[in-house]
Amino acid sequence: MRITVIGCGYLGAVHAASMAELGHDVVGIDIDEAKIAMLASGRAPFYEPGLPELLERSLAGGRLRFTTDMSAARGNRIHFVAVGTPQKPRENAADLRFVDAAIDALVPWLEAGDLVVGKSTVPVGTARGIADRLAESETGASLAWNPEFLREGLAVKDTLHPDRLVYGVPDGDPAGARQLLDEVYAATLSEGTPLVVTDYETAELVKVSANAFLATKISFINAMAEVCEVVGADVTQLADAIGYDARIGRRFLNAGLGFGGGCLPKDIRAFMARAGELGADQALTFLREVDRINMRRRERAVDLVREVLDGSLLGRRIAVLGLAFKPDSDDVRDSPALNVAAMLSLQGAAVICHDPKAVPNSRKRFPELSYTESLDEAVADADVVLVLTEWGDYLEIDPEVLARKVANPIVVDGRNCLDAEAWRAAGWRYRALGRRRMDARVGALV
Ligand code: UDX
Repeated sequence: MRITVIGCGYLGAVHAASMAELGHDVVGIDIDEAKIAMLASGRAPFYEPGLPELLERSLAGGRLRFTTDMSAARGNRIHFVAVGTPQKPRENAADLRFVDAAIDALVPWLEAGDLVVGKSTVPVGTARGIADRLAESETGASLAWNPEFLREGLAVKDTLHPDRLVYGVPDGDPAGARQLLDEVYAATLSEGTPLVVTDYETAELVKVSANAFLATKISFINAMAEVCEVVGADVTQLADAIGYDARIGRRFLNAGLGFGGGCLPKDIRAFMARAGELGADQALTFLREVDRINMRRRERAVDLVREVLDGSLLGRRIAVLGLAFKPDSDDVRDSPALNVAAMLSLQGAAVICHDPKAVPNSRKRFPELSYTESLDEAVADADVVLVLTEWGDYLEIDPEVLARKVANPIVVDGRNCLDAEAWRAAGWRYRALGRRRMDARVGALV
């Protein structure tokens, strides 16, 4: 099928390359010339495992191209809208400027029988408004809403082999949107991927409620971590034990610095704002608490570092390992790790930051912090080592070797990702968020 993907950011670039991989003829359109030039030459504007290979294959095969010219949408049957919906400055609501602009720019090129497919995460009610605009345009094009659930770092896999597909279509589906989308996703559906066909509002809500649930699960376990810290219990064992209950499940129960990134934080805030506009704010007040618990973890991490440094951060040398909001990503949007590094620096510590991929993006946000691409340089003579993003590289560190490079063998594990026993056995004082304060050297609770 001939497909347009409007918006070539994280979602759109991966979606365009994945649709081409499924055998479609795809054009990716974006107003950002630099981004389009990069994608057209087969380079991804962000780090995402597997994406460069996918781009290269489809570009070489002639199934994929990129342009800034919206007229390239003419003659295509399906037009995905995958532009960003950022948080408005100083407000919680989502900014729909880019969605509106994309629809305005697309309308002149639409023809009867075309299907516009929304993929962006939007406040409930947006799709119906766009469908009305399309009806007014008298182009004969119609709308479906098809939310995307991809995770950064696993975006290619999640797009090609999603857990489920959701189509929001109008009553009675007069334009046959379901059939068209079934054709687009034929390869995916043939794998037995579950499909939910529903109305626009449910489709929009599926996306934000899934993110709200995931955020709640993380904040739930982080709330348990707060209690564990007070009584000297161990949140990781607690998560293992409750996670064996199939109704609860162990995934997304990793306590630590909490959630960040371009989706969960902004999506739960936008969801609350929309519920307020709809007069249903009471239904979502718990999300305010989810947000608060999440932000408190960052402050607790700073307090813990101060505590292990005997109360003073001033001039102390702190090695921060990990800046991205999660491993296998160079994304530092609302990153708990970068936030903690910045707070420590503001409070007078000498912070040296390391990350396998996210240093350039971090430098743009916080140029005043010190960065290094060398792990050895980051930890040299450190008073304390913080692991704030659970990159595989850090899990492979030999604690015995590292102990010889630092000034004090103290490690704060912000993601509960290190083998605590191995680090303690190598002589480290190991501290983590929500875990017992066992100190190997004295063999007692400290
Ligand atoms: C999320 C949703 O998972 C995805 O379905 C949606 O489409 C976009 O938002 P993403 O932002 O890529 O995806 O990251 P995700 O893997 O969900 O992690 C979000 C944050 O939660 C990260 O900062 C991660 O470190 C944190 N997290 C995750 C935890 O703190 N504990 C966990 O147990 C899991």
